Amino acid sequence: MRSKAKPTAAKRISPKKNSSRKITPKKITPKKNSSRKITPKKITPEKTNPKQVAPEKIIPKKTSPKKTPRKTMQQAMIRCLPLRLKGKAELFLPAVPGLVDHYVEGFSEGWRALGRPFSPKDTDYFRHVLSQTLRQAFEESPYSSVHVIYETDEPAKATISWKMGIRHSSLADEYAMWVAERPPPLFGHHPDAKVMNLARSLGPPGEIAVLDVGAGTGRNTIPLAKEGFQADAVELTAPLANILRQAAETQHLSIQVYEGDVFDPSISVAQNHYHLVLLVEVVSHFRNNRQLRAVFETANRLLVPGGLLLFSTFLPTPGYDPDEVAREMSQVMWSSLFTRRELHDAAVGLPFDTVSDECVLDYERSHLPTEQWPPTGWFEGWAAGQDVFDLPRDECPIELRWLTFRKRPT
Ligand SMILES: C[S@@+](CC[C@H](N)C(=O)[O-])C[C@H]1O[C@@H](n2cnc3c(N)ncnc32)[C@H](O)[C@@H]1O
Repeated sequence: MRSKAKPTAAKRISPKKNSSRKITPKKITPKKNSSRKITPKKITPEKTNPKQVAPEKIIPKKTSPKKTPRKTMQQAMIRCLPLRLKGKAELFLPAVPGLVDHYVEGFSEGWRALGRPFSPKDTDYFRHVLSQTLRQAFEESPYSSVHVIYETDEPAKATISWKMGIRHSSLADEYAMWVAERPPPLFGHHPDAKVMNLARSLGPPGEIAVLDVGAGTGRNTIPLAKEGFQADAVELTAPLANILRQAAETQHLSIQVYEGDVFDPSISVAQNHYHLVLLVEVVSHFRNNRQLRAVFETANRLLVPGGLLLFSTFLPTPGYDPDEVAREMSQVMWSSLFTRRELHDAAVGLPFDTVSDECVLDYERSHLPTEQWPPTGWFEGWAAGQDVFDLPRDECPIELRWLTFRKRPT
């Protein structure tokens, strides 16, 4: 409103063209001789007059703004900003409980930039709630995230309001999103060299039964079936299982697809039947030693004596002992990490012998045809552990390994 009224007022008071001659800069410029009259001496209070305001009392008033350091003035202006500055933010934090201090530091910086720093007491309370929410989200699923919204309150309040919750997401939700949003093939065009070589080493394909657990879209199941192996699949995520079923149907391949969690006892997969059980890029989603143990127990039930279990998993490189944050982070980044000790313990008392332990990247790169490398845009970095540690490959303390075990013949 004020800015609209101004031009009208300006028109009324605008000097007419001819009047400009009267107010020439020359006329208001002090003449040379007039400067002699307004000498600093004349306005300076005389020392002899005690009733006059002492010069010391005036000088600080006049000169104090000049003496204030520019930085202090700048800070003083910035302190006034919250009267006008507004802001809001929405964040989805990966559920890594061990990173709570890192997150709080980030929020504190943001709030300081808005001129509304939190007091130590308010920061502690925020940390406490964030810590609990991160833990709750992580325990539920490493793919859930903590959702934080904050917004400046209306001036003159110089405060910020925030709220926090969990955005829930399961592994099946994440893969369903892949199916909806990503162009196929989701896991690469070609089967793994290790899978095909191991299956071929077992005998004539028609006599070898293979179970592909966590088969996805059938990247390995379909080529195995095409080569004549009796290939079956277990797949947790319904849209992936559907893609696999359809591909099998279109290509007239007899593949039994079991939909569900491989550890669910209600899934009736044939026992003591398979010569090879595969879990390719699946253990990297597992969460604890119980699930690792369940891999060996399940394989023991499904495999014939002498049958092979092959899975890929992230293991620490020699000398690296992962801490709690690294373990949480590895789960959040789809690269679940187990130690060799945990691996050993998972198989204790079960009839398995280690057959091989190889670096997946090295094996696949050297066995796949050049034109098939890399399998996907993300594979090399992920298999090198770089989704968890942003380090050069030779410095990464974890890597994906191919592990093969043989069930002892009875
Ligand atoms: C990275 S994908 C790999 C797919 C396929 N093995 C490949 O290498 O192309 C992991 C797959 O494992 C499945 N999966 C994870 N945990 C599972 C479980 N407990 N039971 C069955 N499938 C599971 C997921 O749904 C997903 O399809």
